[in-house]
Amino acid sequence: MSLFDLVLRNGTVVTASDQFRADIGVKDGIITAIGAGLAAGVDEADVTGKLVMPGGVDTHVHLDQPAPGAAMCDDFQSGTASAAAGGTTTVVCFAWQEHGQSLAQVRNDYLARAEAGSRVDFAFHLAITDPTEEVISTELPALIAAGDRSVKVFMTYDGVRLQDGEILRVLSQAARHGALVCVHAEHHELIAWLTQQLVEAGCTAPRFHALAKPMLAEREAVARVAALAEAAGGHVQIFHVSGRESAEEVARAQGRGRPFTAETCPHYLVLTAEDLNRPGFEGAKFVFGPPARTRADHESLWHHIRNGVIDVISSDHSPFRFDDPKGKKVAGEHAPFHKIPNGIPGLAARLPVTFTEGVSKGRIDASTFVALVATNPAKRFGLYPRKGSLAIGSDADIVVFDPGRRVTLTNAMMHHGSDYTPYEGYDCVGFPVATYLRGRLIFKGDRVLGPPGAGKHLARAPYLATSAKGMLDTL
Ligand code: URP
Ligand code: ZN
Ligand code: ZN
Repeated sequence: MSLFDLVLRNGTVVTASDQFRADIGVKDGIITAIGAGLAAGVDEADVTGKLVMPGGVDTHVHLDQPAPGAAMCDDFQSGTASAAAGGTTTVVCFAWQEHGQSLAQVRNDYLARAEAGSRVDFAFHLAITDPTEEVISTELPALIAAGDRSVKVFMTYDGVRLQDGEILRVLSQAARHGALVCVHAEHHELIAWLTQQLVEAGCTAPRFHALAKPMLAEREAVARVAALAEAAGGHVQIFHVSGRESAEEVARAQGRGRPFTAETCPHYLVLTAEDLNRPGFEGAKFVFGPPARTRADHESLWHHIRNGVIDVISSDHSPFRFDDPKGKKVAGEHAPFHKIPNGIPGLAARLPVTFTEGVSKGRIDASTFVALVATNPAKRFGLYPRKGSLAIGSDADIVVFDPGRRVTLTNAMMHHGSDYTPYEGYDCVGFPVATYLRGRLIFKGDRVLGPPGAGKHLARAPYLATSAKGMLDTL
């Protein structure tokens, strides 16, 4: 009997700390050997000249989620096909509570749908939009104890956002029971007021979306939630930092010693507010929140990535179709900007775009890339070292990546449910050629091979990032 089910031979293994030539041996879905000249496996792949990296861990993914009047166009089957095609083997999605719903029921329904459909492994953020006494005092502690150790709250969006007092309760309860709190930070009232002014002035084209959601609204909310977390305790992960000023607020909170961390997304590194001004209604393809900013913000984000203030790059995959009455055109062909659903697809593009902008353009090295897209997100969300690492004992979740391959992105390559990608025509240098989930080939060339239902739910044990203290914890 062979020692290995699979051997990847002669690749350049890249981890968040090292790069070296080695073979990787896999048995029963686990990495069991890393070294030179490993014995023959049942399956073998020669990966000479390729980078062999931990499968991507994408910790901000919306799948099978409700949207008022509209429909997100990826369920677990199609969304995780896109993940596999982009070299991502773990997604952390949302169990999304709507008003009046039991969080526990919502989470169980999501679990059933994800177990049936997901082609990659998955965990859940508990998205709380209706923080009733029952949800906060009873359901949340039980769900955290069962392994869903992250919560999501919104500071904006009608019907979804929480008031500051409610956020304080969530923060304190999450800290007490061992969960991290992810925050969409934008100042709701300011956005509502600006939107009203713009609409009354007849400024309704997609490009006004960026004016209605300025950096000021994001910067203020990041600073405010930092203060709330300092009082209530708990580790906060700021989602989708879009530019310099909010990154600086994150850095300030970190400078005060707070467990206050942040992600950005590839779209904030390549798109700008100018994309909202494309001809006709094309700008709707770039409506997401917070909006893309400026080229100077791209460079500032890279600065804050290099110095560690931002240490995770997620996709914020929140896909709508463009030419669809349930998608970007839900309010009509030329709807005012505030009626266009917020969100873009991005799961499959995350690794190639980040690699191109980061490694191929000389801003970061390949190990930093691995840290940003796999190792740090796995650590932040309690999935490491099972995920996000190439080490003996880790799951054999592996992306084989060709660092020199030139690919111009098209929608067909994304394998998602949307009829467009915001990265159409983007020139990648570096592209995934094969993806393995627990040693099983789930993507090769341009074919998704992983079946629906192959993915497993990842229950998370308590871990360091979930234990930060608040002001009253020392009394
Ligand atoms: O525009 C976005 N980002 N839509 C998805 C939901 C969110 O805010 O994360
Ligand atoms: Zn958000
Ligand atoms: Zn999101």
